[in-house]
Amino acid sequence: MDITILILVIILLPALLGLSWFAGSDAPYVPTKIKDITDLLKKSGLKKGHIFYELGSGDGRVVLAAAGLGAIATGIEQSWIRVWQSRIHAKKLQLKDTEFIHGNIFDRQYFPSDVLFIFLLQPAVDRLEKKLRNELKKGSLVITQTFHFKNWQPIKKIDLTENHKNRLGKNLFAGDFYVYKV
Ligand SMILES: C[S@@+](CC[C@H](N)C(=O)[O-])C[C@H]1O[C@@H](n2cnc3c(N)ncnc32)[C@H](O)[C@@H]1O
Repeated sequence: MDITILILVIILLPALLGLSWFAGSDAPYVPTKIKDITDLLKKSGLKKGHIFYELGSGDGRVVLAAAGLGAIATGIEQSWIRVWQSRIHAKKLQLKDTEFIHGNIFDRQYFPSDVLFIFLLQPAVDRLEKKLRNELKKGSLVITQTFHFKNWQPIKKIDLTENHKNRLGKNLFAGDFYVYKV
């Protein structure tokens, strides 16, 4: 093999793999901060026995936290790597009521949901706003992070800045969370 091609493969392959790790059609992979998740789910109203969905579930951390609180939790994620990573985490934690589905969030329906969480870019949130209004049952809750529904009125804004105080007592960045009730 020509040396130039070999060097290109050695440089390009890891770069492509690295980029594919962060890729996502409706949002790049940016995980929710671990120390926010359990607080967020409790404050949003998630209860034992609730059916929980996460659309674009990343490495599964939010689904696993929901299952840890007693929910029957499902994540849908388009990256195979992250789906397998999530399944391995679930197995390690021996969390049975979890499922991680590989696929596109727009190809499914979520009518059994009691609580649904999304952390996606605004165009996807806009599309979901219409879709979820039509298919979720009355009373179910939707949590959005950073990018929110434009036409629904939130019932709650959850402030977790307390979790992000540094040693000097200053608040560092925390995502903002809204809860909507259908
Ligand atoms: C901003 S990250 C949030 C990850 C996780 N929800 C969290 O809060 O830690 C968005 C995730 O959604 C996934 N994603 C983006 N568009 C998607 C789609 N159309 N179908 C399924 N997953 C998608 C990405 O691969 C990425 O893992």
